[in-house]
Amino acid sequence: MLCYIICLFAVIISANCGLAPFITPCETQNDTCTLAAAQAALPYVAAGLPELGVKPLDPLNIPLINSDQGGLSLTFTDNVVTGLKNCKIDGIRHDITKPKQSVVIRCSIDQSGHYKLSGKLIILPVEGEGRYNINIRDIVIKMTSEVRIIQGEDGKPHWHVNKWKHAYQVKTNAHFQFDNLFNGNKILAEPVEAFMNNNWNDVMQEVAPPVVYSIVSAVMDTIESLFKAVPADELAIS
Ligand SMILES: *[C@@H]1O[C@H](CO)[C@@H](O)[C@H](O)[C@H]1NC(C)=O
Repeated sequence: MLCYIICLFAVIISANCGLAPFITPCETQNDTCTLAAAQAALPYVAAGLPELGVKPLDPLNIPLINSDQGGLSLTFTDNVVTGLKNCKIDGIRHDITKPKQSVVIRCSIDQSGHYKLSGKLIILPVEGEGRYNINIRDIVIKMTSEVRIIQGEDGKPHWHVNKWKHAYQVKTNAHFQFDNLFNGNKILAEPVEAFMNNNWNDVMQEVAPPVVYSIVSAVMDTIESLFKAVPADELAIS
């Protein structure tokens, strides 16, 4: 009992004076508590924590996204993504005693930057270079990761994301705007833009994977840098 009280105090003290005071440590098997704690911590983490080496997620700068797949070559540069701080966590499984953890987030994000497209967009030939905007309403992303405990630079146990994968689906819609398609030829550009916006779900599945991958990578990097900076015992009670 005494030990229990001391431990309880230790947890309260570490929660209040620790490196991450915005995180309420939960028992690792308690998903209800973990979900509430993660949701509460999200805006702090998304804003960036320079003292912990955690880069901001909102706005998120992605210098380069490119892919060459299915006959379409795509290069997005100087990309800025906003909205990640308002993501809702729909579900979380973070029982560190199991090899697999998962988080489901639901976000509405806006992304803009410079694009270069050439090739075939599903069925239509497409060509162009200029500014772009993509607005995605309610993308649900499931991230599954393997988290291990490793010894940190401070000599304490830390969580470490060993590997991860993701899957996504857009629930409401996505809107695409590509300025200067076909060098500004509106007769060629308008049908392509109409096609994209009428078939936003196909475009999201076939064209957006490298975009979503870049966003999820940044989220996982942020989680990993938080795990690296903050010992496991400040993030959960084991
Ligand atoms: C899980 O956490 C919630 C909220 O923090 C708490 O109300 C609940 O009693 C906990 N459940 C268990 C089984 O410990």
